[in-house]
Amino acid sequence: MQATESPVRPSMRFDQSALREIHSRVDIATFIAQYVPLRKRGNDLVGLCPFHNEKTPSFHVHPDRGFFKCFGCGVGGDVISFVQKREGVPFNDAVRMLAQKAGIELEPESPQAARMRGERETIFEANRLAAAFFARALASDAGAKARAYLERRAFSRETVARFGLGYAPASWDALVGELQRNAIDLHVAAKAGLVKPKESGGFYDFYRDRLMIPTLASTGEVIAFGGRALGDDEPKYLNTATTPVYTKGRHLFALNVARRAAQREGAFVVVEGYLDCIALHQAGFENAVASLGTSFTLEQVNELRKYAENVFLCFDGDAAGEAAATKAIDIASKVLEHAGSSVRVVLLPPGADPDSYVREHGSQGFQALLKRAKPAIEFRLDPEIDRLRDGFSSPAVIARKAEGLIRAMTSREEWDRWRQYVADRLKVSPDDLRNSRFLTNTANFSPRSNVAGSRYAPVRSSPAGTVEPLSFEREVMSIVLEEPALAVEFAERIRPSSFRDPRYRGIYERIVRHAAEAATTADLMAFFVEDPAALGVLAAEGSRDRSSTVRFGDSGERRAHLERIAQRIEREEVESRYRELRGRIDEAFTAGEPISDELRKESEMLVSKLRKVKA
Ligand code: UTP
Ligand code: MN
Repeated sequence: MQATESPVRPSMRFDQSALREIHSRVDIATFIAQYVPLRKRGNDLVGLCPFHNEKTPSFHVHPDRGFFKCFGCGVGGDVISFVQKREGVPFNDAVRMLAQKAGIELEPESPQAARMRGERETIFEANRLAAAFFARALASDAGAKARAYLERRAFSRETVARFGLGYAPASWDALVGELQRNAIDLHVAAKAGLVKPKESGGFYDFYRDRLMIPTLASTGEVIAFGGRALGDDEPKYLNTATTPVYTKGRHLFALNVARRAAQREGAFVVVEGYLDCIALHQAGFENAVASLGTSFTLEQVNELRKYAENVFLCFDGDAAGEAAATKAIDIASKVLEHAGSSVRVVLLPPGADPDSYVREHGSQGFQALLKRAKPAIEFRLDPEIDRLRDGFSSPAVIARKAEGLIRAMTSREEWDRWRQYVADRLKVSPDDLRNSRFLTNTANFSPRSNVAGSRYAPVRSSPAGTVEPLSFEREVMSIVLEEPALAVEFAERIRPSSFRDPRYRGIYERIVRHAAEAATTADLMAFFVEDPAALGVLAAEGSRDRSSTVRFGDSGERRAHLERIAQRIEREEVESRYRELRGRIDEAFTAGEPISDELRKESEMLVSKLRKVKA
């Protein structure tokens, strides 16, 4: 008898949503604890591995990340694979069992979902057939002109093969015929953007007499094409528009080949053009990708960040390139602003693109360009600093703008370094930057006219390099002082009871109480005239410390920051309740008591809440 063999069941596809539901509703720790006594150790739970014999526990469960792992025998996985292994059942059965426990109704994949999947698969198949067909055409007699073109541009045979380049014959029905021979539904091929419907019925080839460049997903499927005209035809490139398998702006060209090199080198080189990218690969820069078209999107940055933290953005050295670079930098640094990652910008000489540059100056020439690449923040600061020389702007205004950029684009540890960079060039002190928004914003708060009046003279020198970290209490205080209405708005979510520092708690409590009647900072301060101690604290918040909160340029930014703080408080509350609950579950284990349904329910609820507040 084959006791461990599972009953054979028809294979069945579940909606992805059912699997997501299982992962979100079933707390892996609580679940596994029904089989294996677990004890808390650090963030993990540990116990004796149920899959091999052991005396000391090496079986770990990571509730936060939803998986288990035994460091003794190496077995690991999510809650579904735990059931598979523990019960000796196949995936489908494990899913069914878990779904039943968690009260999730399992529906077989709906006919509509099945149709969608069928359509996507047909599109992948059509794209694959098309790519192979184009590649064969390139090698055939019909491809002579395209081969000559590639040769003229110095693309080697290896490169052509590596990128699967091809040629779309100068015909209205060559691909149509190929797809028909392979029983591809042409309506679906039209959805893939390969063919177009004719008015008279039937379909015609979309790409004709073009060099064909396929874009592959990282899983290897062909998802899109770019077709370059071989002569002066317009447009120069015809590209796949959005289809069921391809969304413009989400994918990057050559990511499938570049990601390994990027992982190795810790960086990507991002260029704008298909052929620029291919030329860089040929020159040995195997971490090059193309953003395709002019846009560089947040989705693309996030995609890159899966493999490498650093990004070199290459742009043409003309005005358009500079504008594109500025846009791209602002997008990239939204995601990559934390320490340890960097965005650098390479501006090519006017008239050059990466392809022509490597051809002319070789790999070493391009390598030298990368070496000289400017950190994104420098690229953004320099034009501001230049405005001083142009005489269009005063150092105070520039300092303020620069300080804003520094805070938005670099990590806190780097702020002083970049302040120094700007200060040296503006011939001011770094303190002027630190206090820059205060300098121009001080009038409505305290009459420190010496500051406003002395123009750019150092306000007060603090020891170089020290920036006091702000507690959230003080951030909240200084924001609501500046804009009392926000105290009313956030009164429910940022409560005085969340304040740890009793001094601030008391004052904040009064601010919240009076904020509705106060239109301005001065109104608010008026409530404290009888209380010199509180006034002192508030005044300090308004002078010394406001310089550290200058990142809030307007009401929107202030509100956004309070929103972040409110969310953090909410998250911490849920987390601490969860920790407490885990403690109780832990106690129950130790005492050998069963975990009550109530406890389990609450823990599951908290876990899903945690997921929500973390999202
Ligand atoms: P460029 O016009 O700079 O072309 O467009 P290129 O990359 O240097 O191409 P070659 O060297 O002349 O062959 C840059 C990128 O913009 C997109 C393409 O992705 C192209 O690679 N583009 C350009 C289009 O999508 N359509 C166009 O008509 C032109
Ligand atoms: Mn070019």
